[in-house]
Amino acid sequence: MTADAQAAFASYQDESLEAIGGASSTESLEAVRVEFLGKKHGRLKDLQSLLSQADPAERPVLGKVFNEVRQTVEAALGARQSELARPAVAVAAVDVTLPGPQPAIGRRHPISRTMDDFREIVGRMGFRVSRGPELEDDHHNFVALNIPPVHPARDPLENFYLATAAVGQSADQAGDQSSSVTAGDRAVLMRSQTSTVQIRVMEQSEPPLRIVSLGRCYRPDTIDTTHHCMFHQMEGLVVDTDVTMADLKTVLKHFATAFLGDDVTVRFRPSFFPFTEPSVEVDVLWRDRWLELGGAGMVDPNVLRQVGYDPERVTGFAFGLGIERFCMMKYQVTDIRRFFENDIRFLSQF
Ligand code: FA5
Repeated sequence: MTADAQAAFASYQDESLEAIGGASSTESLEAVRVEFLGKKHGRLKDLQSLLSQADPAERPVLGKVFNEVRQTVEAALGARQSELARPAVAVAAVDVTLPGPQPAIGRRHPISRTMDDFREIVGRMGFRVSRGPELEDDHHNFVALNIPPVHPARDPLENFYLATAAVGQSADQAGDQSSSVTAGDRAVLMRSQTSTVQIRVMEQSEPPLRIVSLGRCYRPDTIDTTHHCMFHQMEGLVVDTDVTMADLKTVLKHFATAFLGDDVTVRFRPSFFPFTEPSVEVDVLWRDRWLELGGAGMVDPNVLRQVGYDPERVTGFAFGLGIERFCMMKYQVTDIRRFFENDIRFLSQF
C-alpha cells in the first residue's frame, strides 16, 4: 500500500508540475489549479483518501510525503502565477533576441530648414550672413530707415514697445555666425522688421556690401492663417557702384526659382516703403496661386546719407521676404499657426 501511495503521489507531482509549466495564461493556470489543488473535486482529494486508507503505522511517513508534494505543487503554482501576472514588456525586456526600442529622432523645424535653404541659395550669389538684435532702439527701427516720428508705423498699436529693456542685447539666435552686430543703445521695442540690420551693417562697414540677415520680427497683427505676431524675415542688402533695379529683379527672380522651381512667376507691384525709392511688393505665382512674399526697392538716398555713404557715388537695393510665407507655399501649409503650436503630428511630416 505504501508503495502504491508513494507512486500515486509522485505521478500527481509530475503531472501537476508539467501542467503548471505548460499553462500560458492566468485563465489556463486557474484551470490547472482547480484540477490539481481544488478543495472540492481536485486530484489532491484522491491523494488524501489514499492517506486515510493507509495503515495507521504508515500514515506518519506517507503524511510527510503528502505534505511535501502539496507544498511543491503550491509553490510552483504561485511562481507561475506571478510570472504570468508580470506585464508583457517586462518579459520582452529580458528577451535579448528582440530588437531594441527605437529611439525617437527629432527633425529640423520647417522654418529652420527653410532658413538653411535660403542661406544656401543666397550664399551661392555671394551674400554674407549678418545678424542683429531682436530688441531694437528707435533709431535703427525707424529714424535711420527714414521713418519720421509722425509715421503710422511707429504707432504703439503697431509695435511691441518695452517700458524698460536690456542694454546691448546681442543678436537673434537664428542667423549665421559670420558677422554679428549688437545694439549699443537702449532697446525700446521688439524689432518689427529685419531692415534694422541693414542700418547696423552700413554703420559698421564700407561699400561694396552684399549681405542677408535672417531672423524673427514682432508685430501685434491680428493672428490669422497668414499672419502671426512673431514671424521670420530674410533681409537682403546690396550696395555698390551702379547697382540698379534690374539687379534687384534678377536676384529675386533667381532666388524664387531656386527655392520653388522653374514654374514660378515673380511679379513686382509698385509700392511704398520710407527707406526705398522706388519700392515694390514682390508676389509669386506658384501652382495657380499668387502670394505676397515681401517688399523691396532701391535704398533711399536719405538712408545712405544717414550712415555716411555718398548717394552720388553708390546705390543699393534691399528686400525683406517673409520666411513663413515661402515655407507655407513650398510645403503646402495652409495655416501659419501650425508652425508654432509644437504639434508633433504636424512637425514630424517634414
Ligand atoms: C517689410 O517689413 C519691409 N521691411 C520689407 C522691405 C525690406 C522693403 C527692404 C523694402 C526694402 P512688409 O511689412 O511688407 O515689409 O513685410 C515683409 C513680408 O513679411 C511680408 O510680405 C510678409 O511675407 C511677411 N510678413 C509681414 N507681416 C507678417 C505677419 N504678421 N506674419 C507673417 N508674415 C508677415
